[in-house]
Order: sequence, then structure tokens, then C-alpha cells
Amino acid sequence: MFDALKAQPQDKILQLIAMFREDTRADKIDLGVGVYKDPTGLTPVMRAVKAAEKKLWEAETTKTYTALAGEPAYNMAMRRMILDGAVAEDRLASVATPGGTGAIRQALELVKLADPKATVWLSAPTWPNHPSIIKYLGIPMAEYRYFDAASGGVDFAGMMEDLGRVKPGDVVLLHGCCHNPTGANLTADQWAEAVELLAGRGALPLVDLAYQGFGDGLEADAAATRLVAESFPEVLIAASCSKNFGIYRERTGVLIAVSKDAEATKITQGNLAFLNRQNYSFPPDHGARVVTVILEDVALTADWKAELEEVRLNMLGLREQLAEELRKATNSDRFDFVARHRGMFSRLGLTEAQVNRLREEHGIYMVGDSRINIAGLNAKTVPVLARAVASVL
Ligand code: LMR
Repeated sequence: MFDALKAQPQDKILQLIAMFREDTRADKIDLGVGVYKDPTGLTPVMRAVKAAEKKLWEAETTKTYTALAGEPAYNMAMRRMILDGAVAEDRLASVATPGGTGAIRQALELVKLADPKATVWLSAPTWPNHPSIIKYLGIPMAEYRYFDAASGGVDFAGMMEDLGRVKPGDVVLLHGCCHNPTGANLTADQWAEAVELLAGRGALPLVDLAYQGFGDGLEADAAATRLVAESFPEVLIAASCSKNFGIYRERTGVLIAVSKDAEATKITQGNLAFLNRQNYSFPPDHGARVVTVILEDVALTADWKAELEEVRLNMLGLREQLAEELRKATNSDRFDFVARHRGMFSRLGLTEAQVNRLREEHGIYMVGDSRINIAGLNAKTVPVLARAVASVL
């Protein structure tokens, strides 16, 4: 039977991890996969996470099954952090999922269950795993313009024109903040315009919120998601704790569904639990429990927020420095957009050949579309990157 299997294309982001590991050059620089690194190159366990794990280890008396939807306390804490009361509780259904990818997968499974013919619209470009999962599930897919390569900003006119063709019941995937892979984001006014257009067309938004706290702050980064949640009868929100709690390998995410009323919410909740049961039964619990301990404890929450803010400000500082160094190295303002971008990523707008040269000649690893992980840099490597980029232009 296995003779029938075809080789699968490798994931372009994850492939870089292995390539980087095999490179023996001491001065190699990893700007590939979206993992935060501190100025010493470490991906630390956050202080509050360590403290919560200790508390848990001391207090936990059983590892028996929890609820199919995950712990109710985790679901409540996540709804509060993401939505902060923007939508009445009796319109919210949610399940814990294995990371943000698990939440996206379950959201798309729910769409397929409800309406197999619904088209899912994706920004061009988007995180490559979005179209990959959609294709795998056999869901119809369409693209809307998003990135303006010339300015490094959002092609808002193109986006609005394309979204003007969305049909009632189509699903539109939006990055809640910190767009991956471009780093270019809508302004608050543009969000309001896009929401008005999509609501008028009867679309169902699916918000991917994987970087809350990495852009303009924990609350500011949730503003667009909250606006979306309160503006449509039905919304899906797939959120991840991998980055903002730094618990990548614990696989901790949540899928929240907004339904039109309390009655519909009960059915949605049942379907979400059903989908968990079909795919993996109970969602992973450890990371969710750690997050709950933190969010239910005032002191731990304060410490976590403080450390998250350090992380965010470190990335912002690196952005400023990189824009400045690129200005010097290239003698132009071509890369000034790097300082305006938000989140972990920026798409530099280099060709694949230039990206390959950076890897081969300079040991600098980035995704083939020239997406860099800002957090892979430090004050010393920023000028190295800037000079290398200038040398391949
Ligand atoms: C990324 O885009 O690098 C991250 O979201 C990690 C991943 O799973 O691709």
C-alpha cells in the first residue's frame, strides 16, 4: 500500500532548521523559523512559566483526562485575554487545541463540516501552512492582494477590491496582528473599513492570532480581533500561546467561535468538542494549565506581561537598528519599512537568488521569500546582515 505514497514537498520554513543545524560555520545567523531569541541567542523559558510549572508540580495530584474541550478555566482565561468582553459569553464557544496550527486546522474542519463549498480567502502572501492545510482538506481557496512589495506596506486598495468579490458565507482569513510573513499591517482605520466591507458582504472572518503581544502590546494587538468579533454574527478565532508565552513545544492554542445567539452557540460548542474527539480526543493539557495558572494569578500575570514587553521592545529596537544599518549600507531608504513593520517578521523583498547567496556566501538563513525573523538578530549581527544584504543587491 505504501508504494502508492508520493514524496511530500518539504515545509520551507521547517526545512531551514535542519539546513542551519548542518552548517558548520561559527558565524552563521538563523533568521528562519519564527522563534524568539534573546540577545544571547537563547529561547528562554519565561520567568512566569517556570514559576507556574513549579506551582503546578507541587499542587497537581492527577493526570487523568480533562474535558474534551480542554479545561474550562483555560478557555475562560483565553477568551478574556483575547476578547476582553467584546462579545457576550453566551455567544462564545471554544476548545483548547494543540497550538495555533491545531486551532487553524480545527477551524477549517468546522468550516468544512458546516459548508464544504465555502471558499476560504487568504492574503497574498500568507503563512505557507494556511494554503497547505486548506488544500489537504480539499476546501476551495481564493487569494486577496495584501502586500505591496514596492513600498513594503499593505496594498490596501488591491485588498479592498479583491475582498469586494467575497460571497456570503465565504471565509476570510485575517492575521489579527503581526502579519506573517510580511510584517506589514493594517491601520486601525483600514481595519474598520475592511470590517465594514466584509460584514456587508456576509463573510465569515477567521482570525489567526499567533503573535498577540509581539506588535504594539498585548491589548493593542487584540484590538482588530475584538472589532471583528463584535461586528459579525459568526467569527472564528485561532490563537496561539507558543510565542507570547514562549511554550512552543507544549502545543497550546485555542479556537474560539462566535455564534449568532446562545442556542447556536450550544451546537457550535458540541461540534468543536466532536472535532477534538475525532482528531485527537483530549487536547494537550500541560501548557494550557501553565497559561491558566499565570492568567489567574495577579503577580504572575504582571511578571509575564513585563517579560513579554521586554521581548517586544527588544524586537522593536532591532527593527530600528536594522533600518538604520540598511540605510547606511545601501545608501538608500529602500528598507525603511523594516522599522514600520511589526511582529517577528519582515519580508525584505529580495529575490530567491539573493536569498540563496546570503545563505551560501554569508551563512545567513532566511525563508526563500526573503522573510526574516527579526528576533534571530542581535546588536552585533544587525550590521553584519545589513552589509551582506547590500553586497547581494
Ligand atoms: C513561522 O512562521 O516560522 C512559525 O509560525 C513557525 C511555524 O510553524 O511555521
